[in-house]
Amino acid sequence: MATRGALIVLEGLDRTGKSTQARTLVKNLNSKGILAELQIFPDRTTQIGKVISEYLSHARDLDDRAIHLLFSANRWEKKNAMVSKLEKGISLVVDRYAFSGVAFSSAKPGLSQEWCRQPDVGLLKPDVVFFLTADPETLKQRGGYGEERYENVEFQKRVAAEYSELEDPSWIRVDATWSAERIAEHLLTTVENTMRALPEKMRELWV
Ligand code: TMP
Ligand code: MG
Repeated sequence: MATRGALIVLEGLDRTGKSTQARTLVKNLNSKGILAELQIFPDRTTQIGKVISEYLSHARDLDDRAIHLLFSANRWEKKNAMVSKLEKGISLVVDRYAFSGVAFSSAKPGLSQEWCRQPDVGLLKPDVVFFLTADPETLKQRGGYGEERYENVEFQKRVAAEYSELEDPSWIRVDATWSAERIAEHLLTTVENTMRALPEKMRELWV
């Protein structure tokens, strides 16, 4: 078993329950004596994160490529801290990562997946990616929907199509309409198994 922590990523459309599940997973790992912390992207607490947050709440407009690069920069500014935590044996549960970056930006006209991937090349590659899936029409019924930029069914459908193209066979699909308890249990079991077979060396995106 590796001495480092595991990099665990949750991806999916808006309102699939990623944030709740990420928090629960950290809590459940901790209660099993496994060191784990939450990392949320975008991390809205940094200066770059504040600009992103203003963009998402319509307080600021930005060129599509500029905001794409800021989302990526927001991951890069956290990279060293993430590496040192993982090296200390702390697992990281990451609520959205570079896959959101590519899926959401490439859903916009004129931005290819290939272009969108480039700024994230060299970030840490996750050990496991959970992909929470549900029909955009179903997700629309969930609380708070529509407050932020991107939270509309038409755009989310395009994002879903981009995610499908991006998805690789190692991703673990999770039905977001399952009960929160069932999802939490599935995530915990899968992470425990992943950790038993964790390679010592970390890899990089997008290999
Ligand atoms: P959140 O709702 O998880 O806080 O994410 C905010 C929005 O930002 C969400 O609609 C997904 C989008 N997003 C991107 O467009 N690019 C990114 O790189 C990330 C992390 C999120
Ligand atoms: Mg959101």
